[in-house]
Amino acid sequence: MEINRKNIVKRTWYYMEQRKGYIVDSHRDPVLIQRMMEQALVALGEICIVDDAGRYLYVSDEYAKSMDVSIEDAMGKPISEFIDNTDIPNVLKTGRPTKGVIYRRNGRSFWLNRFPIKEDGKIIGAVGQAMMTDDQELDRLRSQLGSLVKELNYYKEKYRQSAGKRHSVSSVITRSEGMLALKETLFTVARTRSTVLLTGESGTGKEVFANAIHDLSPRKDKPFVKLNCAAIPDHLLEAELFGYEEGSFTGALKGGKIGDFEAADGGTILLDEVDSLTPGMQSKLLRVIQEREVKKVGSTKPTPVDVRFIFATNKNLFKLVKDGQFREDFYYRINVISLELPPLRERLEDIPLLAEHFIRKLNAELDMEIKGMTPEALSLLESYQWPGNIRELENYMERAFNFAQGDLLKAEYFHLPVADGTQKLVSMTLKNIRQRAEETAIKRALKITNGNKKEAAELLEIDRSLLYDKIKLYGI
Ligand SMILES: Nc1ncnc2c1ncn2[C@@H]1O[C@H](COP(=O)(O)OP(=O)(O)OP(=O)(O)O)[C@@H](O)[C@H]1O
Ligand SMILES: [Mg+2]
Repeated sequence: MEINRKNIVKRTWYYMEQRKGYIVDSHRDPVLIQRMMEQALVALGEICIVDDAGRYLYVSDEYAKSMDVSIEDAMGKPISEFIDNTDIPNVLKTGRPTKGVIYRRNGRSFWLNRFPIKEDGKIIGAVGQAMMTDDQELDRLRSQLGSLVKELNYYKEKYRQSAGKRHSVSSVITRSEGMLALKETLFTVARTRSTVLLTGESGTGKEVFANAIHDLSPRKDKPFVKLNCAAIPDHLLEAELFGYEEGSFTGALKGGKIGDFEAADGGTILLDEVDSLTPGMQSKLLRVIQEREVKKVGSTKPTPVDVRFIFATNKNLFKLVKDGQFREDFYYRINVISLELPPLRERLEDIPLLAEHFIRKLNAELDMEIKGMTPEALSLLESYQWPGNIRELENYMERAFNFAQGDLLKAEYFHLPVADGTQKLVSMTLKNIRQRAEETAIKRALKITNGNKKEAAELLEIDRSLLYDKIKLYGI
């Protein structure tokens, strides 16, 4: 046996020497090289070499031991007689290696690699390598892979944010008149560089709109950078937005850091939750918007930047200004084009469309095949207030998916909160609907006229005294 194997090693070495691309120092003692090649094969561990018909030519001791194959029995016989489902015939056929396949045999796990051996482009055999591994090792590899995937997702998300390709205008799903009109204005708004202020309750789609504006604009191939003003402490926010010079404060990175404004150069920057900016930051930002240049922290030299600003908030900034909690000059600076997204409860007609959209999305994400929802489920959704708007709808849809049995979503799968003091179900009587519509119209009119009741009454084409009555009635 021993002699036999040595011969094979010799032939292998000869073969390798013939091949272009292998470095075999021909001035060395061939016997030494042969011994080294032999050692190399041993070091590779559980290894076998087969010919073009998949018959065993070489089997290492380790291979024989772990795969429970007797060398004497195996020699010259096809590998498929010993190892079921072996991929070697496939490798011989396609000439493509397979790497990192996990194989279990006799309660043990192996990490398999298989490589074709070619000569003059013809497949003349294959090498199979099996590294025995225990479940702990596999778990370690799996978790290593898992954290790599997580890291990759993090960078993908960062890339997505800066590339801003996630939402185009077609992501705005609606058939309500007000929203369709807003969607239409996006095309005009996108063409300019004017600052946009997006307002609306949480989850109404402000970020979707900001994305769509960027995507429709001539800046669409430049970065879209999003920053949540509430998520970062004030002293870091400045460094984050403006960047800093090396050594400008303790903890500053070597070489300094480029700020978000510079990073967004040529593109769009979304400053979300702008209401949480401190007056100090507001006045610094005011300068950037006016001068279109930034000064890094610790630097005196300004850098010009070309960015389009979009601000978003779910607060009433005008009210904050009146209460002295937001700078008036800054408010007027950012309130150039203002788009207000209506809450979902004011556009209940969108619910069937959105539900359909989320069913499609969740089917794909969760690998399910929900076909739709029962009429009772739909009318339940249409009778709820949706304080968290579309985001809340999406969450409840996902919840219903988790409880779903069969291919239709039923009302009980949603577990919507039942009527209590805070979450009253919307009454569907005509009177109630009319009152809600009135209330909304009055609030809008007052907002547009900055609280001027005379102008609001004119806008609504009603008597001023009637307006006063209604304001009192609805407690506005
Ligand atoms: N018209 C729409 N069509 C489809 N999906 C929408 C629409 N509007 C919002 N969404 C989805 O609803 C979720 C919330 O939207 P978004 O993040 O834009 O809300 P937001 O107004 O920025 O909320 P917040 O004030 O809490 O930040 C997202 O998953 C978004 O994809
Ligand atoms: Mg948002």
